[in-house]
Amino acid sequence: MSPAAPTDWQAWHEPYADPTSPLSRRLAVVQRHVGTWLEARGGAPARVLSLCAGDGRDLLGVLRDRGDHDDVDATLVELDAGLVTTARATAATLATARVRVLEGDAALVDLWAEYVPADLVLLCGVLGNISDADVERTLATLPELCAVGATVVWTRSRRHPDLTPAIRKSLSGNGFAEVAFEAPDDVLFSVGVHRYAGTPRPVRRGRRLFTFTT
Ligand SMILES: C[S@@+](CC[C@H](N)C(=O)[O-])C[C@H]1O[C@@H](n2cnc3c(N)ncnc32)[C@H](O)[C@@H]1O
Repeated sequence: MSPAAPTDWQAWHEPYADPTSPLSRRLAVVQRHVGTWLEARGGAPARVLSLCAGDGRDLLGVLRDRGDHDDVDATLVELDAGLVTTARATAATLATARVRVLEGDAALVDLWAEYVPADLVLLCGVLGNISDADVERTLATLPELCAVGATVVWTRSRRHPDLTPAIRKSLSGNGFAEVAFEAPDDVLFSVGVHRYAGTPRPVRRGRRLFTFTT
């Protein structure tokens, strides 16, 4: 059997053009939580880290639509050069937020280690594309990415076998308190929001967190 063709991640973004698609509905949930986080920080300086950011619309779309992002310092990490170009173009339209879009492998801690701890971590479209062992490793490493009280927004399909119960349990075991878990009945996506209630840990460099299997 020949190996499966690699996913075309630019084409993966196409359903965003349809506002009724599950992907657009998922985006709306993620953006709502990003907006809530922005409001709650009340203008205080804040760092954001988005791994496997795609074209960055979950964060950049919210920043673009709101004016209260003067002190947001965001790092987006994305492997696909075309999506990096799109994200950078969107970032350039933002008046005040400082956004860097790093082109490279987000699984490599060294690429973004200097930009953590972050106050908001986005793990959207990641946990469903890596092995269960890599999910566990990534979740166990989150305390190294998070500042005190940081928020993590993550997504994962509930396609069988549904890993979301294990993800929520693991986050709890790693010092996170669940803020929200949204899993509409008529779709497979889910969006989780967790707040880091533990003590931040120094980031361990020289590591790989995951490998995409798709
Ligand atoms: C499922 S999409 C999610 C995109 C975006 N976070 C969203 O939710 O709209 C996965 C993204 O991860 C990117 N990607 C895949 N492997 C990666 C890696 N090792 N490092 C960084 N980005 C990666 C793909 O190019 C793609 O844009």
